[in-house]
Amino acid sequence: MAGILVKKILNEPELYLIRINDDEIKYFEATWYIPEGITYNSYLMKLKDAVVLFDTVKKDYADMFLEELTKLVDPREITHIIVHHTEPDHSGALPKVLEANGYRARVIGTAFARNLLEGFYGKEVVKNFQVVKDGEELKIGNRTFRFITVPWLHWPDTMITYVVEDKLIFSCDAGGGYSIPEEIDDSSEEVVKEYLPYVTKYVVTVIGHYHKYIVQNIEKLKKLGIIDNAKMILPGHGLIWRKNPSRIFEHYERIGAGIPEKDKVLVIYDSMYGFVEERMKIVIDELKKLGKKPIVYRFTDRESPAVADILGEVPTAEAIVIGASTFEADIHPRIRYALFEILDKANYEKPVLIVGAFGWGGVAGRKIETLIARSKFDHMATIESRGRPTKEDEEKIRETVRALF
Ligand code: FEO
Repeated sequence: MAGILVKKILNEPELYLIRINDDEIKYFEATWYIPEGITYNSYLMKLKDAVVLFDTVKKDYADMFLEELTKLVDPREITHIIVHHTEPDHSGALPKVLEANGYRARVIGTAFARNLLEGFYGKEVVKNFQVVKDGEELKIGNRTFRFITVPWLHWPDTMITYVVEDKLIFSCDAGGGYSIPEEIDDSSEEVVKEYLPYVTKYVVTVIGHYHKYIVQNIEKLKKLGIIDNAKMILPGHGLIWRKNPSRIFEHYERIGAGIPEKDKVLVIYDSMYGFVEERMKIVIDELKKLGKKPIVYRFTDRESPAVADILGEVPTAEAIVIGASTFEADIHPRIRYALFEILDKANYEKPVLIVGAFGWGGVAGRKIETLIARSKFDHMATIESRGRPTKEDEEKIRETVRALF
């Protein structure tokens, strides 16, 4: 059952985290399998003469959220609600919060956010909306709030807030990750190490389609000089970063640029009756002989790994080996779908080797080659043959794997 966690995270200014731990979700955006769950982080800041709420949570948890919020403040006293991004995992509870607030609060966001909120929830939620532009500053309470647009992190509506006096960055999706970490922040290295692969999976599945904007937007924030000086980065999902705030954006940059981990090779294949698998065993054996670390995902009559997990491995892979059967004059459907998502969400300059098996006619290899040719990936070779691999096939596979590096 999902739970809620409320923690005071600063005394001056008085700042609270209100975090929903969603362990009920199975498929984020009705697509990405996340048995690890996710958190939705909202923040409440109490200032002299102002009470500011930063984002809300998913609609399903609006009542739970409001109940805890009410223990911190009378909702009618909230003076400002900052909407960084309107995706309903952050804005879903907004209508109920505004209702409890008596529609007194000024809702702040980009022009894009205003239009989306009206479309999602009706005119009432935007009747007291203030549009802010990139770089605009507002004095709220005794603080300066600077709003910086970061388009496509994760939607075109998205912005972050920088609280100038306290060097706090409220970053919503940017800096977030999947899973429900045991801690609220990065104080434990053990928790951070366990969490970071879920950040990678989150970035690729959710923001991967726009990954060039990750690098661009982080560059923009760096030029503004706010990342290096930040005291805290407070995302809308996962851990808060306060021991080493810049670490999370460095991690994002590495994902955006596809920086590989040494020797990691991603191996993905389907095998209906073992013919592809026999070839992939040769591939894996040769990789190990070379000192490589193959990470293997196989679709068989017993296994069907989550494509979300495969996507999370791509940015840190040195190379990819795809094994595919020809199936009804096409690529096997599982590999076809995995490849479709990889090319859409995790399109990097990395070498790819294709290994295929067929019965009466080889088609999968050629079709994969065509798809790879239109992407950033580098097609290194295709080895495809009929039925079980012969001695000559084995030699060719080993030789081609060696030539990959
Ligand atoms: Fe966490 Fe794009 O919403």
